[in-house]
Amino acid sequence: MDSISIAIDGPAAAGKSTVAKQIAKRLGIIYIDTGAMYRALTFQVLQEDIDPEDEKAVMEILNKIDIRLVQQEDGQHVLIDDRDVTEAIRYPDVTASVSAIAKHSAVRKNMVSAQQDLAKDHSVVMDGRDIGSQVLPDADVKIFLIASVSERAKRRFEENKQKGIPADLHTLEKEIERRDDLDSTREVSPLVKAEDAIELDTTSLSIDDVTEKILEICQPFI
Ligand code: C5P
Repeated sequence: MDSISIAIDGPAAAGKSTVAKQIAKRLGIIYIDTGAMYRALTFQVLQEDIDPEDEKAVMEILNKIDIRLVQQEDGQHVLIDDRDVTEAIRYPDVTASVSAIAKHSAVRKNMVSAQQDLAKDHSVVMDGRDIGSQVLPDADVKIFLIASVSERAKRRFEENKQKGIPADLHTLEKEIERRDDLDSTREVSPLVKAEDAIELDTTSLSIDDVTEKILEICQPFI
């Protein structure tokens, strides 16, 4: 297989990371969860009691920490320096503040460049909000996953339950709507479907069905 780059974008909890992980496994390529990088920064900002709106202070934190995505036997782990924050970055406090951090242009510039470095010279599947539009504008395959808010909240509810993260369906729906709104209306690199992305509505599809559909789309590049 020649090298392939796959960009998967879409709103919160549309199944992007689950599908991307399956594709990475099936094709034997690297998976990069860009949302985890914004979440890790948010975690550290909250730990240090910094105001997420304060771009300069947020950038000072970003410049002094090392965020790494490390592949381990049980999946991808997220490290800040040597601290494993894989679970902590999924908690509601981080989720509630991450969009405020991700809107800062200096933060995005730094993250996009780090993500481009991670993808350099490798076959990758990357998921996020701006992968097809900013991070990998020349990706071979660009997918934009959507699903109804209620379906997305249900999926996130089940996922959180399995991870032991406190969740309530109605709160999750509100949180997903709020985050979509913030991510879609921010000034820098808002969540948009790239012009050449293929939109897939996953509301009535299983994760396995979505994976198969995307693998079919990838066929010419494999
Ligand atoms: O994908 P996930 O829901 O974990 O992303 C968390 C947040 O990180 C998003 O709501 C968005 O604010 C931000 N994000 C982003 N650009 C990306 C990935 C995530 O702005 N490429």
